[in-house]
Amino acid sequence: MITIGKLKLKNPVMVASGTFGYAREFEDFLDLKKLGAIVTKTITLKPRQGNPMPRICETASGMLNAIGLQNEGIENFINEKLPYLAKIGTSVIVSISGNNAEEFSRLAKRLDKEKSVDGIELNISCPNIQAKGLVAQCPDATYEVVEAVRKATDKTIITKLSPNVTDIVGIAKCACNAGSDAVSLVNTFLGMVIDINTEKPKLANVTGGLSGPCIKPIALRMVWEVAKNIDKPVIGMGGIMSAEDAIEFLLAGAKAVQVGTANFVEPGICEKIIKGIDKWTKKKS
Ligand SMILES: Cc1cc2nc3c(=O)[nH]c(=O)nc-3n(C[C@H](O)[C@H](O)[C@H](O)COP(=O)(O)O)c2cc1C
Repeated sequence: MITIGKLKLKNPVMVASGTFGYAREFEDFLDLKKLGAIVTKTITLKPRQGNPMPRICETASGMLNAIGLQNEGIENFINEKLPYLAKIGTSVIVSISGNNAEEFSRLAKRLDKEKSVDGIELNISCPNIQAKGLVAQCPDATYEVVEAVRKATDKTIITKLSPNVTDIVGIAKCACNAGSDAVSLVNTFLGMVIDINTEKPKLANVTGGLSGPCIKPIALRMVWEVAKNIDKPVIGMGGIMSAEDAIEFLLAGAKAVQVGTANFVEPGICEKIIKGIDKWTKKKS
């Protein structure tokens, strides 16, 4: 049993926001209730169409995406997606994003009323939206958003950090001091790809977020740095493709992990990762 705030997870493996839809899309590929938790695609107050296409492209050992937080808005999420998620039999963590602390707070207050929501992940780190800068790149803004959400809900709060910063430990400390129960890291790294035939960027948004195996060593280093400097649970992610990758994050100090890009490559991968970690834990004890 893994404890994160008030969350009690049956194992340390969660699916990462934005890479697993609202879970129903994956029901034919794995037994959903075996997952430690499901983190849903980030939702906002109002529906968002996201960025123009193309918004995904493959890179060496990874992928670049600029989805731009396409989602149906919180009310549609609660009415149309949450009832299915509630019946699965695993923890449901809802990822939210807003343009400011007030929007984050309104989203958290709304979700606080929903019994089937076990936790809230604050996506303060999406690199693909037209904002002046990321909340997660500014210590004061991070503190302000987490503090506002803490006042709005008693549910477990996980703050998702951006790797696109110089001092990730400083940002993690701000989130914890403001009342976050845990931090998750990393979101994607800002990158770009140019098509040499068209001489144009491959993504309509020009830049996008890099994920997958290519980011793993950097993500692992960041998780290790944060874990040894804060006393709240750290949820590690970035390029986990196998149980061995996940175990590296646990050894670096993460209490749990999230699996993202790997779900696109092999939609049933999380069951294998859960089994592999279990085998490793038993062998150790
Ligand atoms: C297509 C795609 C969409 C994503 N959408 C979201 C999102 O809506 N909210 C969020 O917090 N992270 C989002 N992410 C980031 C992932 O949750 C994760 O932090 C990142 O991809 C690193 O993990 P990975 O290398 O295992 O994919 C997205 C990633 C991808 C590839």
